[in-house]
Amino acid sequence: MDLRNVGGKAYAHGVLLLNSNGMDVFYRGTSLTYKVIGGVLDFYFFAGPTPLAVVDQYTQLIGRPAPMPYWAFGFHQCRWGYHNLSVVEDVVASYQKAKIPLDVIWNDDDHMDGHKDFTLNPVNYSRPKLLAFLEKIHNMGMKYIVIIDPGIGINATYGVYQRGLAKDVFIKHGGEPYIAQVWPGAVNFPDFLNPKTVEWWGDEVRRFHELVPVDGLWIDMNEASNFCSGKCTIPEGRICPNGTGPGWICCLDCKNITNTRWDDPPYKINASGLQVPIGYKTIATSAVHYNGVLEYDAHSLYGFSQSIATHKALQGLQGKRPFILSRSTYVGSGKYVAHWTGDNQGNWENLKYSISTMLNFGIFGVPMVGADICGFYPAPTEELCNRWIEVGAFYPFSRDHANYYSPRQELYQWDSVAESARNALGMRYRLLPYLYTLNYQAHTTGAPIARPLFFSFPDYVESYGLSTQFLLGSGVMVSPVLEQGKTAVKALFPPGTWFSLFDMTQAISSKGGQYVTLDTPLHAVNVHVYQNIILPMQQGGMISKEARKTPFSLVVTFPAGAQEAEAKGQLFLDNDELPEMKLGGGSSTYVDFYATLSKGQVKLWSEVQEGQFALQNGWIVQKVSVLGLGGTGASDLEIDGAAENVEMSVSPQNFLAPLSDGGDAKSSLLVEIGGLKLPLGKNFAMSWKMGMKG
Ligand code: GLC
Repeated sequence: MDLRNVGGKAYAHGVLLLNSNGMDVFYRGTSLTYKVIGGVLDFYFFAGPTPLAVVDQYTQLIGRPAPMPYWAFGFHQCRWGYHNLSVVEDVVASYQKAKIPLDVIWNDDDHMDGHKDFTLNPVNYSRPKLLAFLEKIHNMGMKYIVIIDPGIGINATYGVYQRGLAKDVFIKHGGEPYIAQVWPGAVNFPDFLNPKTVEWWGDEVRRFHELVPVDGLWIDMNEASNFCSGKCTIPEGRICPNGTGPGWICCLDCKNITNTRWDDPPYKINASGLQVPIGYKTIATSAVHYNGVLEYDAHSLYGFSQSIATHKALQGLQGKRPFILSRSTYVGSGKYVAHWTGDNQGNWENLKYSISTMLNFGIFGVPMVGADICGFYPAPTEELCNRWIEVGAFYPFSRDHANYYSPRQELYQWDSVAESARNALGMRYRLLPYLYTLNYQAHTTGAPIARPLFFSFPDYVESYGLSTQFLLGSGVMVSPVLEQGKTAVKALFPPGTWFSLFDMTQAISSKGGQYVTLDTPLHAVNVHVYQNIILPMQQGGMISKEARKTPFSLVVTFPAGAQEAEAKGQLFLDNDELPEMKLGGGSSTYVDFYATLSKGQVKLWSEVQEGQFALQNGWIVQKVSVLGLGGTGASDLEIDGAAENVEMSVSPQNFLAPLSDGGDAKSSLLVEIGGLKLPLGKNFAMSWKMGMKG
């Protein structure tokens, strides 16, 4: 995506080279050069002219982002090295005890028998005990996800492998299944371009689901990652992996393949930042897929094809909206999967990178994205983990995950991190209806959930290069601490009024935009909401299922000091188990909220489509907070809708930073109306007057 400002006006456009071959891409400020070593020159141009329009046009072509179940926006805890089920049970209990929200508990490969996909370790994860645990957490509304790698262990007594072999589902080299090494030792890789493989995979997922009713799948190592390179054979008499060292040391007998142009092409792409052969630590590029397709041409499609097959398998079997997390992605992956940014490091630099990577994936049409919170390895410091959850609580996909060789880093392991987590995740859980509505907007228009600031302020050039702050939707801005030892953030506030969501009496306003230094002690993160917005929030809770049942409140923001202004917001609600996310059919409701300020009168109303679903669920609006109002007080409240013991309160709002460029607001009022009982499924309207001086 290119965004440039020409004569004070912003223009965005996009370019896609849809090509799955190896390539180098050079960006030199004013030009983009692709050096591609195969395939077709299939170019697409997206005319924009806004960043949102580019992503809309792009995802129309490549596929709209997948709808996610509601719980996917809850907090997730994972770790490699939960050695047995009691450890997992203890993690869940400890989250409850620390009063930190948790929706999803994950297993890496620890539950497996010998690292083999779709198996259970009979001792550490005995099936009856695991089923009892799942029944317990499912009853609470919690979910369970496990990992699967594409490499299928070569093992005479392993049913998954035997059935795959019988159906001839594996990628070949020299007419035989291509041999690689991943966690189980020697493996073959399923060829997901083969329809027979897709069928077999679906059947294996179904069998596993009968064994363990998982709620989603995590597909990892699907670049595909191989611990060996070239053409390998299984050494006779040698155990592989040998069990003494880490499993990623190649233990097969392998030879480089140098005599084909596929393995040794004349132009050497910068395959992994090293001067290595193109097939280094992956499937040899001369390996062959279905219909004679070479790995040379299809390498970049491997994780994508596995994503499609896994999506098909889960959808077919549960009849539910699938949740899949994939490490490898390609153009169009967002239609099927969520993504995490892989094995990041537990340091400050990687905390920072996580923001730009998340923002990129939003633009790529994969808006459900996050990084391993607190870092995958090495061990984070306590301070870093505090700061990381304050960022990670606002990743669209929010998961703490750690390496086998790292110490434990669940959020409750440090009291200070637990406190930061309760604060930041507490806010996330109150924002869940907003996040979920953003998921609907992503699914219908491609709009990223987490966005760079320039998406909302394309004319404001100062925002273009900013990767240390981000927006959720159009106007909720997160400005975290990203540096060690810092307790203040110098944050950019684009032109207009911003209100702190943690303390709605605090505001920042300027006509031309400004940097403001915000006090940010260890347990604080800055979250501001922009003017002209109506933000639907709920009361939060320890689990999204419970949070989802609580009454709503609306936060309405006007530009401080404005005489005439309007605000708007949307809310989408549905039965999140249904495969499709759409309006209609009695299982969803859509609400537009509007507010105006004119001649001292405030009006707020809703326009509901398909209200039945919201009425059945009994959702109500209990409270309204209107920010940025001028005047001396509020009176003459009229409400068209149910209410009892209505209370109206007015408090002054402080402007944190001196108005740098003569913005006209010196103060404003926050008007709160509580005790409402307005059914969300019905149109409501209310109005009141703001008293004026004299
Ligand atoms: C890969 C994944 C990581 C996982 C590990 C073990 O490194 O990226 O998240 O923990 O494999 O399965």
